[in-house]
Amino acid sequence: MGHLCCRTKERPPPRARVVFVPPAQPISVSGWRRARALMDYFCAKVEGGFGGRYVLDRQDDPVSGRHGCAFFFWDLKEKKKVVLKMNVIYDYTDMSDPDDSLFPKNGMDILLWSGVRHPSIVRIDGIYSTTNLPGYAPTSGLKGFFLEFCYGGDMWSLPRMLTEPEVQRLNGPIYYEDSEAVFMPFIKNVLEGIKCLHDRGFAHTDIKSENICISRGEDGNAKATIIDVDRLLDFHGNPQYEVERSGDLYIVSGIIRRLIPEPSPEVLELDRYLSSFECGEKERHALNAEQALRLYAKWEAAHGPGMRVKLLPSPSPPQHLIDAYARKADGDKFDGRSHTDTEETRDTNGDDCRGRHCSVPVQANGKTVLRSLGGWVSAGSLWINAQVAKEYGLPGPWVRIQNWHDV
Ligand SMILES: Nc1ncnc2c1ncn2[C@@H]1O[C@H](COP(=O)(O)OP(=O)(O)O)[C@@H](O)[C@H]1O
Ligand SMILES: [Mg+2]
Repeated sequence: MGHLCCRTKERPPPRARVVFVPPAQPISVSGWRRARALMDYFCAKVEGGFGGRYVLDRQDDPVSGRHGCAFFFWDLKEKKKVVLKMNVIYDYTDMSDPDDSLFPKNGMDILLWSGVRHPSIVRIDGIYSTTNLPGYAPTSGLKGFFLEFCYGGDMWSLPRMLTEPEVQRLNGPIYYEDSEAVFMPFIKNVLEGIKCLHDRGFAHTDIKSENICISRGEDGNAKATIIDVDRLLDFHGNPQYEVERSGDLYIVSGIIRRLIPEPSPEVLELDRYLSSFECGEKERHALNAEQALRLYAKWEAAHGPGMRVKLLPSPSPPQHLIDAYARKADGDKFDGRSHTDTEETRDTNGDDCRGRHCSVPVQANGKTVLRSLGGWVSAGSLWINAQVAKEYGLPGPWVRIQNWHDV
């Protein structure tokens, strides 16, 4: 117990990696501006790290969705384009079970660590996270996921994509009357992807046309790839969540109806099954992907495999960037897998927090630390890690230190 007495006189340096900010819902214009500044900072860190492996493709504007932004990078080692998906809104996160770096987990983490690999589900290649964001507390942080780039647009833009000159050159003209033969194979991809998730005890819970992208399969044909797994739900076999699985499939019916204006009887039968979930609010009909794929097989038996649309390979980085990277002696230092950044994050946290610059933000921007209700406090704040809170005698376990809008 002796050492405990000493600790009361002289506080030990905080050991923990103190992380995480989900900045609040940046609904205001100024909120978004600040979020964007953080994202730009994050991208600059990615470009500055990894031995110069990743360079932002400045010709390709980032795309923002509901939760965050997808940035497009050249991976000069693999000579391909990749996506860095960064979130600034963290709903659907598991705050109570943070990852190794004390960031909250969401569906992306669940998918990455589950080891699920499927051609119809976006491949997550790695995580990059950084803390100590400029202008924010040392506890602040952002996390992004490197994803396979699906360059054919999403399901909304699929009909238009098929009319693009290079697609027509590869495939010959695609006619309106072909729509069922053209679109049904994409529906099969989606059903197979959903089945894979459901078989593993997950529900996607955010299936919609914008979250299904087109990429090029190994056979050179276009395929549908389910993206945006932020809301992936691991329902551990709990029947209460059965409804989420049925919901994934039900949404596919709307996609079919939009893509196929004059459905054959087999498409109608599949659609009737998928939309049966809607009928009878109280006794909702549970759907399963296996049955949907059986009905798909009936369509295939009647109409053949459908038309597979060929795509050109995904674009390569400009040669001068590849050459510049190859010339770098340390170009191969990083492997780009998960915890790619941790070298850096660990250094930052470890060194800074041991050094005199590490001030635990008891007061952030003049605002006093607020007591949390236990667990993570609600979205919209910056947090301090429990361990550090304890070492500094702060109320805990998790302590709100400042508000996004107050920064
Ligand atoms: N792997 C990817 N390949 C190509 N585009 C992508 C990819 N991931 C995301 N995008 C684009 O970024 C948009 C937003 O990404 P998404 O993961 O859906 O985020 P949000 O949760 O904000 O909706 C998508 O609708 C899509 O246009
Ligand atoms: Mg989305």
